[in-house]
Amino acid sequence: MHPSLAMVPSTAVRCDAQTSPTKLLIDGLTKSYGSCAALQPTRLEVQTGEFLTLLGPSGSGKTTLLQMISGLVEPSGGRILIDGQDETRTPVHKRDIGLVFQHYALFPHLTVAENIGFPLRMRGIAKADVARRVAEALELVHLGQLGGRFPKELSGGQQQRVALARCFVYQPSVILMDEPLGALDKKLREHMQYEIRRLHRETGATIIYVTHDQEEALAMSDRICLMNHARIEQIGSPHEIYTRPKTIFAADFIGVSNIFRGRVQHDGNGAAVLVTASGVFRVGDGAPPAQNEAALVVRPEQLELDGEGDNEVSGEVVDTVYAGSETRVLVALRDDATITVRLRRGALPPLLGDRVAVRWRCDAGVLVS
Ligand SMILES: Nc1ncnc2c1ncn2[C@@H]1O[C@H](COP(=O)(O)OP(=O)(O)OP(=O)(O)O)[C@@H](O)[C@H]1O
Ligand SMILES: [Mg+2]
Repeated sequence: MHPSLAMVPSTAVRCDAQTSPTKLLIDGLTKSYGSCAALQPTRLEVQTGEFLTLLGPSGSGKTTLLQMISGLVEPSGGRILIDGQDETRTPVHKRDIGLVFQHYALFPHLTVAENIGFPLRMRGIAKADVARRVAEALELVHLGQLGGRFPKELSGGQQQRVALARCFVYQPSVILMDEPLGALDKKLREHMQYEIRRLHRETGATIIYVTHDQEEALAMSDRICLMNHARIEQIGSPHEIYTRPKTIFAADFIGVSNIFRGRVQHDGNGAAVLVTASGVFRVGDGAPPAQNEAALVVRPEQLELDGEGDNEVSGEVVDTVYAGSETRVLVALRDDATITVRLRRGALPPLLGDRVAVRWRCDAGVLVS
């Protein structure tokens, strides 16, 4: 632990959105480029010490929102409040915000230590303090021995860690990261995800992180803000968004989903069913009124091959996908839909062409509209 870098004690744990004070309030923020709405009026509250991820497809407005928070892009309307102060018109260099981008943007002619010390020197910090804080920041990102090297003498992951150290070293109260791991290979990405989580825990910084990688968002975030078409589609903890998606888009974008679209009806006993092209399925409580269109979302791990359940479809095995920790079986149904089933641990994969029955409990799926 590095005392000068610490904003809260190292015991900082996942942020509790109920109890932490609001660090950042986005109030009706909007951005248009001509007739293109890059961000529709948006409200978002970020708690102190929270790790919030903006997740969404290309063009959904993630970078636009982040750059307005940083001050690099001027909003068309709305306000940005940091610690209750209106910062909407505050210039970039006067905002207490750190930025880390996909490309490391290190100064090539400065050493690693000089790069990390740059923001401190810019702020007029005394030479001895700069040296001490740079040494601590180098240790924080596990690059203690490499301060004298130039950026071109480092690997991609090491360069990105220098960029992180250069950001964390001056203790900005909000750190914005736009796809910071986008240029790294999968293995290094996973390692750096862990490193960023660790830095977040150890410093207690408030982080807003942009990615279009849903696995990364699930792994890293206290909360995910899912964006689509220049607006917030859903916001919640990774578990909430995964288990309780509110729309077909949310279900489809996060994790693997089986989606059956249909129309709600009530059977003779008053229980709700969804009539779809793949079959008639019982659904849990909270179904919309009869005749409403809806979609049933069932995750691969909620389906069982030849197992128990209130709902059943049958079909033909068209593929099995081995992914190390799990095997997924693709089953083609009578209406040409294909569903994905996670094979039970220890079960033998079926053969291509086998006819199988797939079952699930009626309370397993989520009904969305
Ligand atoms: N300077 C600009 N001029 C005109 N349109 C812009 C400008 N910057 C962004 N846009 C438009 O605003 C929308 C949102 O862009 P933004 O860069 O915020 O998306 P994004 O979610 O970050 O996408 P990606 O995942 O591809 O980075 C897009 O339709 C984009 O074309
Ligand atoms: Mg972007």
